[in-house]
Amino acid sequence: MKDILTAPFVQEMCKTTANMYRLGWDERNGGNISYLLDENEVSEYLDIKKVIRTLPYAGVNEMNFYITPLLGKIFIVTGTGKYFKNVQDDPETNLGIVRIAEKGVELLWGYKDGGRTTSELPAHLMCHMARLAIDAENRVIMHCHPTNLLAMNYVHELDEKKLTHTLWEMGTECVVVFPDGVGILPWMLCGTNTIGVATAKKMDNYRLVIWAMHGIYGAGKTMDETFGLIETVEKAAQIYMLTAHLPRINTITDENLKELAELFKVEVRKDILS
Ligand code: 13P
Ligand code: ZN
Repeated sequence: MKDILTAPFVQEMCKTTANMYRLGWDERNGGNISYLLDENEVSEYLDIKKVIRTLPYAGVNEMNFYITPLLGKIFIVTGTGKYFKNVQDDPETNLGIVRIAEKGVELLWGYKDGGRTTSELPAHLMCHMARLAIDAENRVIMHCHPTNLLAMNYVHELDEKKLTHTLWEMGTECVVVFPDGVGILPWMLCGTNTIGVATAKKMDNYRLVIWAMHGIYGAGKTMDETFGLIETVEKAAQIYMLTAHLPRINTITDENLKELAELFKVEVRKDILS
């Protein structure tokens, strides 16, 4: 059996959480990641028949939700209450590898101090189901609290079309990176099945979903793709926050956005451009 700490998926979780912390997206225990793993790859590092303990499907205090399409699937997931800044130094305490089963989440590795999966597990697993139905290659769901995007939530209208359009104007690459735009949920209680259902519904159409005055969810095939989506939105929000109080003299026009979409062959959300 190979050393699990050298597994590429553990390394990726360590590097990504460290980067997210360094960028200020994940203060204290803010943020969570779930990453769908390949069973054969996991078997090189773990005896996947050995279950350490079974955890409930739970958010903050609600239990159980519809999980059938994910039965048997294995994920690596950040632990609830764990700090992203600490993952790299102690992955076995801050991360867990779990298999989705009928009775609960079977812990195969990690949460060494008796911990459990993120309180946003309902939203994560529901988003995985939504994205897998659209794209069988989807593997990553990432949630965090990016500073500039959060600041923008307080001063920009929380309208999906208007906010997406503003973000597209804030950087030439934006429309190419997220041509499907950004979905928005109003402020809601986090860690609940209700916010999970609402987020997953948005994920039918968007790979990025803002939780108003809280943070963002991103979905993608790889850790890099998902990180890059959030990074690009956050950079656009930063440009917005650096310029929103100043007179705007120049901008990227709708014509420019259409040209970009055509050149890079991306399916841009048409109802946003005039
Ligand atoms: P967890 O510590 O349970 O992952 O929660 C962090 C968070 O960002 C809640 O939305
Ligand atoms: Zn959060």
